[in-house]
Amino acid sequence: MFHSTTPEPGLQPSTHRFHCIACDGISDSAGQDFRCPQCGDLLEITYPQWLSAAPSPVDLISLWRGRRISNSAVDLSGVWRFRELLPKLPADDRAITLREGNTPLYALPWCARSTGIPDLLAKHQGMNPTGSFKDTGMTVAASFAREAGFRWVACASTGNTSASMAAYAARGGMRSLVLVPEGKISWSKLSQALDYGALTCQLRTDFDGCLRLLQDLVRHAPVYQLNSINPFRLEGQKTLALELLEQLEWQPPDHIVVPGGNLGNSSAIGKALLELRSLGLISRLPKLSIIQAEGANALVRTVRETRGKRLISVQAETHATAIRIGNPASWKKAVHVLEATEGACEQVSELEIAQAKAEIGAEGIGCEPASAVTLAGLRKLLAQGFVKKTETVVLVLTGNLLKDPDFTMGFHRGDLFKELPEQESLKFLRRPPVVLEPTLEAVIQALEKEEKLESAPFQDSKS
Ligand code: F0G
Repeated sequence: MFHSTTPEPGLQPSTHRFHCIACDGISDSAGQDFRCPQCGDLLEITYPQWLSAAPSPVDLISLWRGRRISNSAVDLSGVWRFRELLPKLPADDRAITLREGNTPLYALPWCARSTGIPDLLAKHQGMNPTGSFKDTGMTVAASFAREAGFRWVACASTGNTSASMAAYAARGGMRSLVLVPEGKISWSKLSQALDYGALTCQLRTDFDGCLRLLQDLVRHAPVYQLNSINPFRLEGQKTLALELLEQLEWQPPDHIVVPGGNLGNSSAIGKALLELRSLGLISRLPKLSIIQAEGANALVRTVRETRGKRLISVQAETHATAIRIGNPASWKKAVHVLEATEGACEQVSELEIAQAKAEIGAEGIGCEPASAVTLAGLRKLLAQGFVKKTETVVLVLTGNLLKDPDFTMGFHRGDLFKELPEQESLKFLRRPPVVLEPTLEAVIQALEKEEKLESAPFQDSKS
């Protein structure tokens, strides 16, 4: 099955070390399961040389800014542009890059008015090459997979990781193996993996079942694991915070709000913020808050019921399939960043997610359902007084609108919550397609009918 010349997998010693988040053990290399050999917990990447020779904040800021006019592949990448804070590749041209990162920070004027928070921004990671934030981590982890001599990379996924991994593996000349829950990921994500040439296996289980199987597989076959348990992924995903702060002239926002699934992304952003503060690039930490769907609320329950001491797994169910995860791998890392940044953890209902998604769509931006939990969660945090209207808030939109057309069509056609009574809050956000005779009269009538429609409160706030 595997190419006979596959070299012995192993990581080259580099500037980074692997640190166990539980027992503090440090090692130069990591096994294929990316777990601590002593206690079995997760590893994170650290940079011991920063203790003796920390890069100067002023130098870093001007170096990174200067690279924005460079045409070299690593400088055009919104990830590798910040390579001083990433594990070092043997040479810059070894990076597998699709010009990931470089994502826009949008103002959300209508949502700002409807929430009453004037300084409301969205960092849109759905504008990455494969349409999700996963690309920022994948460029780093896939590059290191190739350096380690692996022919096969693999992941369990709710769809976006698999799309991203398949793309980066293809670009790097590696084969990819995708394990996804059958019938539980969107067609657009699945079709990406197929087109990028992955061996795509739809397993009759959920995401958590796929991940368990992958962890077993990496112990039995020379495949390199590209889930967010892989700490190289999280190093790449850190760059969201770097790019965001650069876009804000290094003035930290008061809040960053992020969706929580397997909890790698929140952990990565939190790690970046803590590193930036310890390196002196920022002097104060934004509060990082994590929002989950009510039906996939393992972290919310873990924080509320055990104060973050013991994971409460759940049987996950939500239309936001990207975060349909009941047993999040990086829960301990996420609890740590919640505590360190004094962030909050909240859950939102399916209706709240759908409404928030439509509102972000009506801004002319759009996102996938999992990303919309951020706006829905923000409303709750505001109502609780945790977020103040005078504060600056950045929502992290993790995936592109086009990632889940079935959800969007179902919402606008009114099929999504058919079993529930008509919801006033959703009614005015729906824009179902109209089927007409191909006549001028019919189209003019449709225009007139639309004009007469009662305006939604949200629409009112636009005028
Ligand atoms: N938003 C989107 C669009 C996602 O695809 C995911 C995770 C998340 C949020 C949650 O991020 O897991 O780091 O907490 N998707 C993974 C996947 C699990 O396989 O694509 P997280």
